[in-house]
Amino acid sequence: MSNLNLIKILIEQINQSSQQGITFAEYMHLVLYHPELGYYCSHLPKIGTQGDYFTSSSLGADFGELLAKQFLEMWEILGQPSPFIIVEMGAGLGLLAQDILNYFEQNNTHFLDSLNYWLIEQSSTLIKAQKNQLTPYLEKGVKLDWKTWEDIADESIIGCVFSNELVDAFPVHRVGLEKGELKEIYVTYTENTFKEILADPSSEELNHYFKFVGVEFPSDAYPEGFQTEVNLSALSWLKTLSQKLKRGYILTIDYGYPAHKYYHPQRYRGTLNCYYQHRHHHDPYINIGYQDLTAHVDFTALERQGQKCGLEKLGFTQQGLFLMSLGLGDRLNDLSSGRYNLIEVMNRRDALHQLIDPTGLGGFGVLVQCKGLSPSEKERSLLGLQY
Ligand SMILES: C[S@@+](CC[C@H](N)C(=O)[O-])C[C@H]1O[C@@H](n2cnc3c(N)ncnc32)[C@H](O)[C@@H]1O
Repeated sequence: MSNLNLIKILIEQINQSSQQGITFAEYMHLVLYHPELGYYCSHLPKIGTQGDYFTSSSLGADFGELLAKQFLEMWEILGQPSPFIIVEMGAGLGLLAQDILNYFEQNNTHFLDSLNYWLIEQSSTLIKAQKNQLTPYLEKGVKLDWKTWEDIADESIIGCVFSNELVDAFPVHRVGLEKGELKEIYVTYTENTFKEILADPSSEELNHYFKFVGVEFPSDAYPEGFQTEVNLSALSWLKTLSQKLKRGYILTIDYGYPAHKYYHPQRYRGTLNCYYQHRHHHDPYINIGYQDLTAHVDFTALERQGQKCGLEKLGFTQQGLFLMSLGLGDRLNDLSSGRYNLIEVMNRRDALHQLIDPTGLGGFGVLVQCKGLSPSEKERSLLGLQY
């Protein structure tokens, strides 16, 4: 099943392009974020156990509650500023925001008075879903708002900007090796099918990227036909965040690798994945408009771009360790307290184990960067980074 109107639009874009082809990043942008027909915009993307894929927040409130604990500590370290702004970008269905706000409401109403919680979301369908999900908090007067980066003045945020599985959803450029040279993958349409061709890179940034992340590519180590992805949007995204942040933290959770692992010659076909009804495969030209496309995140690129933009890295860890440091182990122990029935214990234990499973969600990367902190604030090692 594909969306025929979206296919028409893709063909039009290809025909209008100077090379009779659009970059894969342009293709991915349209199939995911075309304002009416893209996967994230045309209908509610199916995040959750019944849908195309699930995220940590689909597994219950624990993930959001443990993150909330980390935000509270950040607020303390910064001297309890008011307002303390939390910006969540790419909030999906709004479940994570709900779990975080719920934790604050139950545990620290004083903090809630200081909190401004802003959501930045590209899909108008998802903005509607988020507003719906968070109505009870709006009605209670929690300072919740939906913003764009243009609404936010430079150097105005004191607090934390965070995201979970956002960067993997940015459109990526795909590059390949042909006769020892770096080429870019473009999408064309001939004989009633989308086809990929290799041509010169669409931007100089692609030529500089590998040096920037400390990888020698192209080189003899890579086989002819090697393909991988470059997430240039992640670099401009982090630049924007660093401009908007005055004092505080950037917390990025996603699946990915440091560059030397990501661009290992053995990862011959890169990391592009397509998700449709919990099946994952590698064909981005089927189920158009109905399937999610993602690529892993190059965390070295985020670290180096951060340095370039005036951010400091406070730590990089795995989600499993991060959540254990924040008290996930205590939650597992509490399940033996006799306060829960057997079904509750089984379900919750399974969810908690999934959050820390090193071969799944627990293996995700957690990167914490900061800006504008005093030396003593920087020295206070964050709870989540203690293992
Ligand atoms: C994979 S979903 C993750 C959802 C949620 N964070 C979770 O953990 O369930 C990616 C989210 O990022 C949003 N997104 C992608 N690119 C964006 C952009 N440039 N600006 C704002 N939101 C974006 C998508 O619309 C979607 O809400």
